[in-house]
Amino acid sequence: MSDILLFTQALARDAGKLIVDERANAALTHEYKNGDELVTNADIKADQFICAAIAQQFPDHQILSEESSPDLGAVQEITSPLWIIDPIDGTVNYAHGHNHSAISIAYVDGAQTKVGVVYNPFSEELFYAESGKGAFLNHKAISVSSETDLRRSLIATGFPYDKSTLAPMIPRLHAVLANCADIRRIGSAALDICFLAMGRLEGYYESLSIWDFAAARLIALEAGADCGHFSELPPGIDPQFYDRDILIANPAIYPLLRALLQEADNASGID
Ligand code: IPD
Ligand code: CA
Ligand code: CA
Repeated sequence: MSDILLFTQALARDAGKLIVDERANAALTHEYKNGDELVTNADIKADQFICAAIAQQFPDHQILSEESSPDLGAVQEITSPLWIIDPIDGTVNYAHGHNHSAISIAYVDGAQTKVGVVYNPFSEELFYAESGKGAFLNHKAISVSSETDLRRSLIATGFPYDKSTLAPMIPRLHAVLANCADIRRIGSAALDICFLAMGRLEGYYESLSIWDFAAARLIALEAGADCGHFSELPPGIDPQFYDRDILIANPAIYPLLRALLQEADNASGID
């Protein structure tokens, strides 16, 4: 394991302990970013903790983190190694006392994601991958499911905080419910993608922010998933970091689910 991976794993575990302790021992306070997006004092504290540890260890590296430096421009202009952080993915679960939330940390170098770590401190599940070296859950190799039948496939998705963008999601939901085994909205995109990576789900689609998926996408890729999009990408965009209409699935299900979602969009007049 590389030093970067070991550092990232230790950091995710320490931040995980912080968010568990924070919920157990302190009264959580919360506010709403941009009107509807829940953020707690633990999100802020974990963000500061992770960023400070990286800045101390790697003072020359860039940081893109949801709560303290959500500047997406950094991804287009990477001049040095970059860390992409979601201090708590699954904040709504966290604030409501559910145990399905994770710390997500990705490390990008040479414009490629090299390391991804997603840690759920409540279940003590540590998902990680290094580029070209496979994907692991608690040090055991993981791979995607071998299901080939869309009708037997379990699909996950999620919905944005901004309710004005819900309309296109309803025909997609209808198509998935009618043609797949069932659907899950578990509340943490990073964990959804890691669940897919280890075969607990066959497919996943959603529009996200980069910190939600940067680490988990590498884990899914290394576990054998196909990672792409169900709509056409704008020209010149690096698909690795493009956050709209993400589609991740096992290789047999990927083209079937892509066609299903595209048909739903075409039928409802979405380009
Ligand atoms: C959210 C979760 C959720 C997804 C939302 C994300 P947050 O992240 O990943 O599953 O549906 O789009 O914003 O706010 O808990 O970090
Ligand atoms: Ca998130
Ligand atoms: Ca978050």
